Amino acid sequence: MSATFLFLLPFTIFSIFAAAQPGTSNISLGSSLYPNNSQWLSNSGQFAFGFYREGNDLAIGIWFEKIQPQTIIWTANRDVKLPSSEDVKLHLSGEGISVILQDKQGLSPLISNITESVAWASMLDSGNFVLYNSNAKIIWQSFDAPTDTILSGQRLLAGRNLVSSISTTNHATGRFQLSMQRDGNLVQYPANLVLVTAQYAYWNTKTFTAGDNVSLNLDHNGQLYLLNSTGFYIKNITNQTQLPDNHVYRLTIDSDGILRLYSHSLTQNDSWSIEYSSSSNKCDPLGLCGLNAYCVPIEEDPPCLCLPGFVFIDQGQRDLGCRRNFSIVDCANKNETRYSITDLDGLEWEDNPYSVLTLNETACKEDCLRDCACEGAVYKDNTCRKQKFPLGYGRTDETASTLVKIGIESSGTKTVSKGRNKQLQTDIIISSVAMLAFSLIILAITGVFIYRYRVLGYKKVPYSADGRFVEDVTLRSYTYVELEKATKGFTDEVGKGAFGTVYKGVISNGGRVVAIKKLEKVVGEAEREFQNEMNVIGRTHHKNLVKLLGYCHDGSNRLLVYEYMTNGSLADFLFRSDGRPAWEERTGIVLNVAQGILYLHEECETQIIHCDIKPENILMSEQKCAKLADFGLAKLLKSEQTRTHTGFRGTRGYVAPEWHRNMPITVKADVYSFGVVLLEIICCRRSVNMDIPEDQVVLENWVYHCLEADELHKLVQDEEVDKTQLGRMIKIGLWCIQDEPSLRPSMKKVVLMLEGTVEIPAPPNPDSFFSSIS
Ligand SMILES: *[C@@H]1O[C@H](CO)[C@@H](O)[C@H](O)[C@H]1NC(C)=O
Ligand SMILES: *[C@@H]1O[C@H](CO)[C@@H](O)[C@H](O)[C@H]1NC(C)=O
Ligand SMILES: *[C@@H]1O[C@H](CO)[C@@H](O)[C@H](O)[C@H]1NC(C)=O
Ligand SMILES: *[C@@H]1O[C@H](CO)[C@@H](O)[C@H](O)[C@H]1NC(C)=O
Ligand SMILES: *[C@@H]1O[C@H](CO)[C@@H](O)[C@H](O)[C@H]1NC(C)=O
Ligand SMILES: *[C@@H]1O[C@H](CO)[C@@H](O)[C@H](O)[C@H]1NC(C)=O
Ligand SMILES: *[C@@H]1O[C@H](CO)[C@@H](O)[C@H](O)[C@H]1NC(C)=O
Ligand SMILES: *[C@@H]1O[C@H](CO)[C@@H](O)[C@H](O)[C@H]1NC(C)=O
Ligand SMILES: *[C@@H]1O[C@H](CO)[C@@H](O)[C@H](O)[C@H]1NC(C)=O
Ligand SMILES: *[C@@H]1O[C@H](CO)[C@@H](O)[C@H](O)[C@H]1NC(C)=O
Ligand SMILES: *[C@@H]1O[C@H](CO)[C@@H](O)[C@H](O)[C@H]1NC(C)=O
Repeated sequence: MSATFLFLLPFTIFSIFAAAQPGTSNISLGSSLYPNNSQWLSNSGQFAFGFYREGNDLAIGIWFEKIQPQTIIWTANRDVKLPSSEDVKLHLSGEGISVILQDKQGLSPLISNITESVAWASMLDSGNFVLYNSNAKIIWQSFDAPTDTILSGQRLLAGRNLVSSISTTNHATGRFQLSMQRDGNLVQYPANLVLVTAQYAYWNTKTFTAGDNVSLNLDHNGQLYLLNSTGFYIKNITNQTQLPDNHVYRLTIDSDGILRLYSHSLTQNDSWSIEYSSSSNKCDPLGLCGLNAYCVPIEEDPPCLCLPGFVFIDQGQRDLGCRRNFSIVDCANKNETRYSITDLDGLEWEDNPYSVLTLNETACKEDCLRDCACEGAVYKDNTCRKQKFPLGYGRTDETASTLVKIGIESSGTKTVSKGRNKQLQTDIIISSVAMLAFSLIILAITGVFIYRYRVLGYKKVPYSADGRFVEDVTLRSYTYVELEKATKGFTDEVGKGAFGTVYKGVISNGGRVVAIKKLEKVVGEAEREFQNEMNVIGRTHHKNLVKLLGYCHDGSNRLLVYEYMTNGSLADFLFRSDGRPAWEERTGIVLNVAQGILYLHEECETQIIHCDIKPENILMSEQKCAKLADFGLAKLLKSEQTRTHTGFRGTRGYVAPEWHRNMPITVKADVYSFGVVLLEIICCRRSVNMDIPEDQVVLENWVYHCLEADELHKLVQDEEVDKTQLGRMIKIGLWCIQDEPSLRPSMKKVVLMLEGTVEIPAPPNPDSFFSSIS
């Protein structure tokens, strides 16, 4: 009785509100829908297409009509907001489905990119909404464009994704995705990754050898499986359920990042029940808690806690992440604020350190406290990986601990900070208790974790080894004889620079290939200065700086031992005759170089002015990562050598004009040289080239001319490049080579401009100041 009633109910509603289409799923051209009669039903009345409400918002989608509460399975243009007024209608025409805003006479396609003329549409009983042409051929179907759900009979083809919704009441793009990869593996990742690599995967079917064109299928008895293109069962994810026939199924990647197979009875008024779920640990989905936060298996939902010293951005939405709850007062001013370090065991983060040191945990803490740039560190396997916040993708790792720098005292705000300390302590106690419980659980599941991260070796996306250097970084002192042996008597010369000759060698201990630089013009007596400089250079650790491994001061000999860079210098790379490097490669190099210089200027313990930035001093690693060489050496030269050593006096070259004007040399001199190198990298030519038409000989003049004439494409010889990016690069370059040092941006600003986070005003003619004073 009640079953019959239920079955009839939708039809009753249907006949009241949508009398225009009695009993047929066919929708003819010219049909419209309004928010007040909001659906086109399938034949059986099981599925509906039309307007639905989410809170105050209006959306268009498909849902189970007979199941309460309303279960949305597809949303059109999920990230575009519809006006919530009633003056909107949906219209089927030969061009497809459009949304028409009645007051504004506006019309926008809902389902775009339809190349053929539509003859009719149909809401099928499978839950598929289909557009046909006049030959009854399908031109478009919702099954081909799933959002977060697939239904029985629907396939997720290779190369396609399901992306979770923000919540059950907001179907816009959420934070997790399920990818049917072309390598045959079905994998779950956080959504919106810049680079999708195995390290971010938190679940997979381990079918990465199954070949291309594998699809995910859900059939009518709830079996979920992978098929290859010849119809072979690659893997059964679930077995056929034992439920009676009258059930419907859906597979959804839920907003919490877990993939679940649900079933629902067609005859009983109950709720969806879970037949399968990809994970039983709600902390598995990577990045569930947002930035600066971590997940613990506690009762609360979402199960998130903030790092010490941080509070939730929004207490009501704890998965949005956390923000710092103390202001960073100028760290260099030791009187103002003091810091302490708190550690949390068993947590690991996305690996993105700005510096990696081999230290014990105590020394790591001390180093971070001393280093103003350090906001925290991840300590693991005797390495201290210093971090800048925010930290993302926190996950459990028994072997790692997270050190967080927090402010403990602020002279101006003593009373406030006392209260805060108490709060902090309770926070820490609470989280310690949670951590303890948590550690026990972790202990039990670590085995699983290790296994899982080992087996995820399937997707060979280039992952720069430069990004995670975990080598011994303590400087070694060598004897001259050792280095003589390493270079076989200084025979294999690989370069000659301002400071001396460079030889390739192999260090007997470990067989490591190194570059050994024999300094020639170094001040003879200044033993102590040499030692000091070595210590300064030895403490620089940045992926865009060539690493100093050791040195030798033996009698009058001064030698430096560096990591060997297999791909030569940027000059070789850029100005070679066999074609230019790709645009993306070049812009990457510009950013690498800028980050290296920024580190020298602002992030390392002692500020270092490079004084000799040019393509010959920028080396390319095996992974084509650009690294600065020869930094920190300027001080070792006699003062008059320093001013003249590049021999560019009188020509513009890479040397800032202040070198010739007896003005003080500041970091802005490096910015100038960087600007010249930037323009060279972008245009793939030397800054001065005598072999080309006269108006192009001096690069900076030509560049400025092209910018004024809106002919930037000439600079890249009509190569296909992103025009906006090219324009930005050129403007940054021109700002850097301004004659007046104070007009040049700082390297910090340069990096922000390169990353596109700040606007770049039109640069003045770099020559103007120069010409006005000479
Ligand atoms: C829908 O329309 C097409 C073409 O007009 C027709 O072939 C088909 O039988 C119709 N289907 C239903 C269920 O009315
Ligand atoms: C729904 O609204 C439209 C215009 O907003 C109106 O023309 C139509 O009559 C309404 N339909 C019903 C069933 O109220
Ligand atoms: C639009 O359709 C064309 C041809 O069918 C296809 O190549 C293109 O990728 C489609 N674009 C989008 C955004 O789907
Ligand atoms: C996979 O599909 C693509 C496009 O449909 C096709 O070109 C390719 O040959 C297929 N590969 C296999 C192994 O079937
Ligand atoms: C599908 O899998 C079977 C069994 O492993 C294999 O023989 C067949 O070649 C596969 N088909 C494709 C297109 O890879
Ligand atoms: C998966 O299930 C199907 C039918 O349910 C069966 O024919 C097939 O052998 C199974 N394959 C595997 C790999 O278990
Ligand atoms: C399916 O059932 C078989 C036999 O009952 C069992 O061995 C297998 O593990 C099951 N597979 C899945 C994916 O549940
Ligand atoms: C179905 O169940 C829901 C809640 O469980 C209830 O609100 C609703 O009234 C029930 N509908 C019918 C027709 O019994
Ligand atoms: C820090 O947190 C405490 C308690 O959680 C709060 O009272 C205080 O206002 C916060 N301070 C800042 C700067 O947000
Ligand atoms: C910092 O402290 C030192 C000695 O305690 C004092 O001489 C100096 O003036 C203080 N500086 C500031 C900015 O308070
Ligand atoms: C840590 O290293 C420092 C120097 O690097 C050393 O003085 C200290 O004793 C070490 N501490 C432990 C616990 O090993």
